[in-house]
Amino acid sequence: MKRKSPFRVVVTGGAGYIGSHVVKLLVREGHEVLVIDNLSTTSGENLKYGRLAIVDLSEEEKVFNLLKDFKPQVVIHFAAFIVVPESVEKPLKYYYNNVGNTLRLLSAMKRAGIENLIFSSSAAVYGIPERVPVTEEDPLKPISPYGESKAMVEKILRDMDLAGEIKYISLRYFNVAGADPEGELGPTYHQPSHLIIRALKAAKGELPFLEIYGTDYPTPDGTCIRDYIHVTDLAKAHLLAMEYLVREGESQVLNCGYGRGYSVKEVIETVRKITGVNFEVREGKRRPGDPPVLIASNKKIKEILGFKPEFEDLEIIIKHTWEFEKRR
Ligand code: UFG
Repeated sequence: MKRKSPFRVVVTGGAGYIGSHVVKLLVREGHEVLVIDNLSTTSGENLKYGRLAIVDLSEEEKVFNLLKDFKPQVVIHFAAFIVVPESVEKPLKYYYNNVGNTLRLLSAMKRAGIENLIFSSSAAVYGIPERVPVTEEDPLKPISPYGESKAMVEKILRDMDLAGEIKYISLRYFNVAGADPEGELGPTYHQPSHLIIRALKAAKGELPFLEIYGTDYPTPDGTCIRDYIHVTDLAKAHLLAMEYLVREGESQVLNCGYGRGYSVKEVIETVRKITGVNFEVREGKRRPGDPPVLIASNKKIKEILGFKPEFEDLEIIIKHTWEFEKRR
């Protein structure tokens, strides 16, 4: 469906896993897209739509010139480091990129007179929630530098909003998984750290076994519980957020999840079922920075954006990822 009045949209990190799914939907709907990406964590194989500028966000002048010339109505900001345990080991790397380079982007946006931002935040801002499903009003107590970096940017955005410098929607992603249902795009990390993709690599024989990071958590089977959301549903949420922001002009913070959780062991069983491979699993120690249970309340995003999930099923999420992974 072509929009009557398409937007010009800058997507930072648009060559990455989630960004590329969003770019595909934007282009499909007739929007004009400029991707800004340094291709540091992906080869660019997912970039099949939109124009690409290979620029690092630390290069503020270059970013400013791109924004000044392209004049987007909205910037969607994905570019960030995302691996929780790595952030525990290398905090400066995370603060420098996720906070420092976001500041440079915000500064370039302000100078270029662009005031609408969709920000990729994370459930990691909640740390170990006091209750689940966790709502947007619950306290932010991140337990990793990654989560802290996202909470810091949210704070900066709140202050800029109060000062009339920006309008934004911060989307707090829970566990993003799955792949483009049409099979074109999927997770393409150089070094995948996420559970589903590592389990699939074990099923493919690319990993000798899958390690479970901790079996002594206070959950029914002792392994961590997560709210896995299909990347295409998440991508659609970005388009809804963009239209809401431009139309209503009101800043919002919204959880992105389905409101239900699966344990690591349940995910492994489902991967074995979908792939038909009984790959080896070893029980290991806890990994730093992992909360036991993270499940989203998605009441607010449903109410405000009219978000309607289409792929709310762990088997479909794993099936789509497997179909993509098998061809790689
Ligand atoms: N896990 C394993 N073995 C693996 C990989 C993961 O047991 O080989 C476990 C993890 O310990 C965790 C669960 O599987 O309990 C999910 O781990 P992922 O790495 O797939 O995802 P995370 O929960 O660490 O990360 C996600 C998002 C982050 C977000 C974080 C909040 O990717 O952006 O949730 O904790 F910040």
